[in-house]
Amino acid sequence: MKIALAHGDGIGPEIMAAVLDVFAAAGVTKHIEFIPVEMGQSVFEQGNTRGMTDAAIRTTEECGILFKGPMGTPKGSGGKSINVTARKIWNAFANLRHFMALPGVETVYTRAGIPVNFYIVRENIEDTYGGVEHRLSNDMIQCKRLISAPGSDQVHRFAFQTARRLGINNIFCGHKANIMKMTDGLFLDRFRAAAKDFPEIQTGDVIIDALCMNLVVKPQQYQMIVLPNLQGDIVSDLAAGLVGGLGFAPSANIGKHISIFEAVHGTAPDIAGRGIANPTALLLSGLMMLRHIGMTRPAAVIHNALFAALEAGVRTGDFGDKSTPALGTKDFTKAIMDRLGESPRTVTPAPVPEDGEAPTFQRPERPAHQEVIRTFTNIVTQVTGCDIYLDSPLSPIALADEMTRACVDTPFKLSLISNRGTQVWPTGSIYTECVDYYRVRFELKDGVAPGSFGQSRCIALLDKIAEKFTVCSYELLRTFDGVKGYSLAQGQ
Ligand code: NAI
Repeated sequence: MKIALAHGDGIGPEIMAAVLDVFAAAGVTKHIEFIPVEMGQSVFEQGNTRGMTDAAIRTTEECGILFKGPMGTPKGSGGKSINVTARKIWNAFANLRHFMALPGVETVYTRAGIPVNFYIVRENIEDTYGGVEHRLSNDMIQCKRLISAPGSDQVHRFAFQTARRLGINNIFCGHKANIMKMTDGLFLDRFRAAAKDFPEIQTGDVIIDALCMNLVVKPQQYQMIVLPNLQGDIVSDLAAGLVGGLGFAPSANIGKHISIFEAVHGTAPDIAGRGIANPTALLLSGLMMLRHIGMTRPAAVIHNALFAALEAGVRTGDFGDKSTPALGTKDFTKAIMDRLGESPRTVTPAPVPEDGEAPTFQRPERPAHQEVIRTFTNIVTQVTGCDIYLDSPLSPIALADEMTRACVDTPFKLSLISNRGTQVWPTGSIYTECVDYYRVRFELKDGVAPGSFGQSRCIALLDKIAEKFTVCSYELLRTFDGVKGYSLAQGQ
């Protein structure tokens, strides 16, 4: 089996060499050929804003698996984060991170005897990470938060399948559906829908702010948490803090065709080239990769050797008992290799299976065409009006006068004006301060049946308003099988 390998920047080459040494000593390289690919700083410096060469893209697509070291994102120039680009173009829709207390890595929880061992599955493509942003007026900027049903389905199904594979019997969905009833509400609904196919796994849901407190106060109550992208990003760094920091946080970006394995930390430019970096997070990411491709036996052997070394007090300078000497990357790695075949004594060792010596991973065929993934089909939609967004410094009352006039000779009536999501017309509070960007909602006049026309009448209204106002954007209001496809304003 071939795996594309990018050494990374900064400490990347040092920690990658360490991991490959351990892999070679454990017999992994008998079954896997690592094909080097060019990504990162050197590629950005050639003026390539994607940070990866065409050959690197081709090789990764052929292999289906990329094992990568950390890579720097150029600040302020056109260069985009390789990590974000890679996840998106290859649709690595789920980010899996494992947070577990390691022997020899002291935290407030290890001192208190509280076990920490849980996974976070973070949606990796959607949410505000689409980076769809616009300046709408002098004073207002928008970032669109996109959550789709098939995108949510992919990540939830992956979470349940992974839980089943790992013997995890409890998953929580974290969300903010009490406020974002439609986006987070959809994410939560699809979680509940996916759960029906995994009856042996218990489920629960938790609002994101409560989740943060629970994780700090009682982390042992969680085995797996599935989260939307931005919330997952923040909560997974919080979780890294519970187990001793980013140096111990591995991650996998899993897609249907291509998966990427990497440490959570960055290139650590402050210690690069000094031979003192800690390779643990990258090694743990490598173990996630070995398990993913079916090499469960060497993964367990290396896991036990690493734990035995940590338990013996072997450490790099970034962690552990400061009264004992720290080792450089090479000696730290040798201490792990010397313990291959040993097991940790103070924690439960990973069971070493009889089989799982060689990879069983079968790469799905390259898709013949770009797929459109869908969850809901055959839904009946009916137009009920439109929301028009205006760049305007007028007061709500003055704006309402203008908009009411615009409705003459149209099938619409002005039903509400909101500012920053709060209703300011027909009722509102004198204390609600407004900014120069309004949402104006038009709904069908009494007696006009929903669905009696398509969106063309809304566009005609938009056209009329645009003669006098700057229209920033427009959203069609529709029902889906009779259910409103839009939220109400705060205070409505
Ligand atoms: P960083 O994670 O590189 O460093 C933060 C601190 O942790 C530093 O003090 C560093 O010395 C220490 N550290 C990190 N990994 C370590 C290790 N393995 N052993 C010992 N100490 C370690 O974060 P920073 O400084 O914010 O980012 C540096 C660069 O890395 C930036 O260009 C950033 O864009 C990039 N980055 C890349 C990532 C990736 O490729 N997955 C992820 C995060 C950042």
